[in-house]
Amino acid sequence: MAAYSPSRSPQARGKIFRMPVFPADSREIAALLAWQAAAGADEAIEESPVDRYKASTAFPTAAKSAPAQLSEAPPPRQPAPPSPKPPVTKPAAARPAPPKPPVAATPALPKTAAAASARELASAANSLEELVEALAAFDGCALKKTATNLVFGDGNPNAKIMFVGEAPGADEDRAGKPFVGVSGQLLDKMVGWIGLDRTKFYITNILYWRPPGNRTPTSDEVAACQPFIARHIELVAPAVLVTVGGPSTEALLHRGEGISRSHGRWYDYQTPGLPAPIPAMPIFHPAFLLRATAQKRAAWRDLLKLEQKLAELGIS
Ligand code: URA
Repeated sequence: MAAYSPSRSPQARGKIFRMPVFPADSREIAALLAWQAAAGADEAIEESPVDRYKASTAFPTAAKSAPAQLSEAPPPRQPAPPSPKPPVTKPAAARPAPPKPPVAATPALPKTAAAASARELASAANSLEELVEALAAFDGCALKKTATNLVFGDGNPNAKIMFVGEAPGADEDRAGKPFVGVSGQLLDKMVGWIGLDRTKFYITNILYWRPPGNRTPTSDEVAACQPFIARHIELVAPAVLVTVGGPSTEALLHRGEGISRSHGRWYDYQTPGLPAPIPAMPIFHPAFLLRATAQKRAAWRDLLKLEQKLAELGIS
């Protein structure tokens, strides 16, 4: 019978349609069933029919869940999430909440104004303390508005080795320190293999605020913070720079190739404010190694290259 054709609309599949009047006549019942099946309502989901037109009053918990979802919505400057569809076969309360849409990147200042402000503030900073103040005064990166803390740097600012990662995550945002979460712990363990700890290196990120929901930072956000990380490196003036992961490698070394090609190789990092180029090596991001454990061997080889370079430069 055409009514049970598997080619029915997937949207209609499994739905129960309202039967307006209960018919007395069995031929009429058969016709109505055929009509429902043709519309895709070909499975019995519950014992007895439910009038979904009355569902909004019949399921108070479902009605309550909508404002709860709204109250968890992103701040007002963000576009509101699409309102959930009313429940069809189950009360909405029994369903998992729809995933929150990622918070969109809203520019804090027009791009050129942000870039000019960043350059001006960063270049005027003559110490790390002044650079923190400059960042606190900078309004050109929208991430600042959603972050809890400015995540500046950790470790020894007088060290000869500087690591630069991507952006703070939730743990870093809470603590106000870079690389303190699981991936930071793995990084500490990895560099511990070659005798390094945070008294012997300094660590920061190319972004100073957490992207909401850990989404990938936009190129505008990276560009807005670029003068700060450039100045940050100039002020620390390390002998060796290690870029941690693809985004920081791209932002600082502009290789135009993936981290899987560039990791473990030495490049020169140079800015006009540096007296000489700094040898820089990309390494895999520890968050990637937590997923791709097979790459740990390559990560280990990269760290041995770092150890060798430090020995060549007489850095212990
Ligand atoms: N990942 C990063 O790139 N930086 C952090 O600070 C934490 C995780």
